[in-house]
Amino acid sequence: MLHLVPPTQGPTSHDSSPIPARRPEIEAARLAALESYGILDTVVEPAFDRITEMAADLFDAPIALLGFTGHSNVFFKSHHGLTTSHAPRGADPSQPALAPWIRSEFRQGFHVEVPLYSSDGFEIGMLCVIDRRPRRIEEPQIRHLRALGGIATDLLAMRLAARRTLAQAEITTSEVDHRAMNSLQFVASLLQLQGRASASPEVTHQLRAAANRVLAVARVHRIFSTHETAGRVPIVAHLRRLCEELSTSVGSEIRLEGADEVDVPKEQVLPIGLIVNELATNARKHAGDPITITFHRLAEGAYELCVLDEGPGLPAGFDVAAPSGLGLGMKVVNALVAQLQGKLTAHSNPVGRGSCFKVTFPIG
Ligand SMILES: Nc1ncnc2c1ncn2[C@@H]1O[C@H](COP(=O)(O)OP(=O)(O)OP(=O)(O)O)[C@@H](O)[C@H]1O
Ligand SMILES: [Mg+2]
Repeated sequence: MLHLVPPTQGPTSHDSSPIPARRPEIEAARLAALESYGILDTVVEPAFDRITEMAADLFDAPIALLGFTGHSNVFFKSHHGLTTSHAPRGADPSQPALAPWIRSEFRQGFHVEVPLYSSDGFEIGMLCVIDRRPRRIEEPQIRHLRALGGIATDLLAMRLAARRTLAQAEITTSEVDHRAMNSLQFVASLLQLQGRASASPEVTHQLRAAANRVLAVARVHRIFSTHETAGRVPIVAHLRRLCEELSTSVGSEIRLEGADEVDVPKEQVLPIGLIVNELATNARKHAGDPITITFHRLAEGAYELCVLDEGPGLPAGFDVAAPSGLGLGMKVVNALVAQLQGKLTAHSNPVGRGSCFKVTFPIG
């Protein structure tokens, strides 16, 4: 027996029939409505499991499913009494999505179902109770099943509201980053202008170096403003772009070689970007072409970033861990490496000439 409980709440308050599915444009809108909840193929959540557990108890039945109807499958967000998390969707739009699957799996058994609606009235899923043997249904059970379906719909509404708030917060953050980038680029131009206006070559040099450091920070804000991943950034993609831009700004080709991609928390992107900026600028200034950057995974959660050149090598007595004896650049690098909770070493380039600056650090 297939018992379909008529909906209490339809697409509009005066029309309780569900929106007919499978007309391509309506089906596309229905799938978009479902997509907005971000629920398909997600992990088990206790709140939904409690609903199916109660639904099964209500009918003293072994199986209760809370499903969402995707393009060709129904995904069971909760599947009490069954191990399967997906079932094929029936092809006939006039039939409930699970009807053919239930008929073939459970034969003449018992099936009662209430539809679940999106906030804009699309039928996006169902709460159903199944048994392998037929049985009678009492009216209060139907009422309670509807109420459980209503709780599932309330959970969905809260989920949608949380996702919208998050999306709004991300747009705001990306606007802030965009503005920060514009302001920093403006500051860098001012420093460059002031540098050019000075009669002292040393002042010009210092102001240009300051402008380059400000631009390095601006680049990171640009990444944040354009990146869609909330909270994390694919670092190799960022390093590749950074190398291209640095190649133009320092006037040397900076190559990125053999890099292992990984998503890095936003708070690590700024120190990594600034370290590369300082070390590549040093390689250009104290060594020259070619300059190579590598980024490798060492072990679970541990990574190694190297900046290599083939110049004259490190000066005698150079101690990377004694920033007081170094210039501003290495002091900045030491501070940023500490921020990453990493370790900085400098030694000869394995190719036989030049130097290699290596930063090993954990990625959280
Ligand atoms: N790739 C390199 N090859 C050779 N020597 C280097 C290299 N990188 C740094 N050094 C040496 O380390 C010193 C300290 O570098 P640091 O970046 O602190 O200062 P700087 O580049 O001289 O000036 P700035 O403060 O503008 O960066 C440099 O003066 C240089 O002697
Ligand atoms: Mg330097």
